[in-house]
Amino acid sequence: EEMAAATVMILLAALLPPSARGLDRADFPPGFLFGVATSAYQIEGAYLEDGKGLSNWDVFTHTQSRKIKDGRNGDIADDHYHRYMEDVEIMHNLGVDSYRFSISWSRILPRGRLGGVNSAGIAFYDRLIAELLQKGIEPFVTLHHFEMPQELETRYGGWLGVGIREEFGYYADVCFKAFGNRVKFWTTFNEPNLFAKLAYMLGNYPPAHCSPPFGNCNSGDSHREPYVAAHNMLLSHAAAVDNYKRNYQATQGGSIGIVIAMKWYEPLTNSTADILAARRALSFEVDWFLEPIFFGDYPREMHEMLSSNLLKFTSEEKRLLQKNKADFIGINHYTAIYAKDCISSPCNVENYEGNALVQALGERDGVAIGRPTALHGYYDVPEGMELIVKYVNQRYKNTPVYVTENGYSQFSNNSMEDLINDVGRVNYLQGYLTSISSAVRRGANVSGYFVWSLMDNFEWFFGFTVRFGLYHVDFETCERTPKMSGKWYRDFLTCSRPVD
Ligand code: NOJ
Repeated sequence: EEMAAATVMILLAALLPPSARGLDRADFPPGFLFGVATSAYQIEGAYLEDGKGLSNWDVFTHTQSRKIKDGRNGDIADDHYHRYMEDVEIMHNLGVDSYRFSISWSRILPRGRLGGVNSAGIAFYDRLIAELLQKGIEPFVTLHHFEMPQELETRYGGWLGVGIREEFGYYADVCFKAFGNRVKFWTTFNEPNLFAKLAYMLGNYPPAHCSPPFGNCNSGDSHREPYVAAHNMLLSHAAAVDNYKRNYQATQGGSIGIVIAMKWYEPLTNSTADILAARRALSFEVDWFLEPIFFGDYPREMHEMLSSNLLKFTSEEKRLLQKNKADFIGINHYTAIYAKDCISSPCNVENYEGNALVQALGERDGVAIGRPTALHGYYDVPEGMELIVKYVNQRYKNTPVYVTENGYSQFSNNSMEDLINDVGRVNYLQGYLTSISSAVRRGANVSGYFVWSLMDNFEWFFGFTVRFGLYHVDFETCERTPKMSGKWYRDFLTCSRPVD
């Protein structure tokens, strides 16, 4: 009988929201921004409404649906375009300070600069922003989240053509002008580092090009493409920041940054070769973009390993980059991985981290680096959060960091009950938030945190097969239902213990 009672107690404790067991927002400095994140193509739907043009993702999912795990697309997605009022109300109930979302370029400029501005597109984001501000929620806006008007993809070869820089500059200017009096947080690009690899090295995002050593793609493309795309994105970023700083910042009073995808790389062994491999992996992932932005050129390791495949900045471009350092750095962090050297030892191409000559491994001696999540290669390793934040603080002049994404995936084919009772997500979020609060206590400069995602949505080449939401979305009816993690986040945000 005693045993049974003890079991019941343990079960009850597991059901308690973890806020009751400790962490809450009083563990973070006043003014720390808590939020949730989404992106346009993943939630909006309404892909041809109110004058929107086709984006590269619309065309890609329609013409190459075999590249999407369930063959589906974002035509309807979460139907957020029509349900944004309900979604803002949900955020209000969660108690978030801020909402990170992206603007769909093809809603604003359906055919790029030459086709002109679509006022109905502007009007949609005007309505969304008004609704957010009315509920006291700060908009945190991304300009490029993997999408562009298809016409520009065709005309310039996406980010490969130099002409795309002027297009992006024009688009950014239209957005600053239209929304900048109300938007105080801008980011130019979401994860341009991961995007360049997925679109031009691995062939998973449009235009689905591949570079050696990765095969089976549309065409035999060159080693250089990911670096060409990155170069054009970096210069587009710098020009947009320059424009914002010269023409808008003083009157509008906002700040502007960039969001980089960052794993933490842990050396597989304590051999010098693996330690250097972990450093190289971080360089090729993080410093690839941040060194040019903060110091005007690519990291030394990249010059050494890529030689002529890496493009050169002119001295004028270097000045433009350095003059316009980001006001803040957005970190999207989900996981850590072991790094194994591939220069002095043979490596498996499947998990090969490209030209950094590093293999990324989830396991050492049969033991995984952390608990696996649904997204392949993503493990629950909360300690990595503190390590990556410190890495970025140390190398980039203690520039304020926002954790712009962090979240946990489930497989969609679980039962509704399991999807809603997402204890794994609650543990994950609590672990990563604890890691941030410990970093902050030890002096790290972190100013905010966003959960990916507010609600389940279209996960790019995984389609609807994985779910990241604090809210469950029924992809047939679009009904939203809070998960345990949503309730946990609300309790974390709204039930602070008194400060002593
Ligand atoms: C990165 C991306 O910014 C977002 O679009 C994606 O859904 C999540 N991480 C999860 O993979």
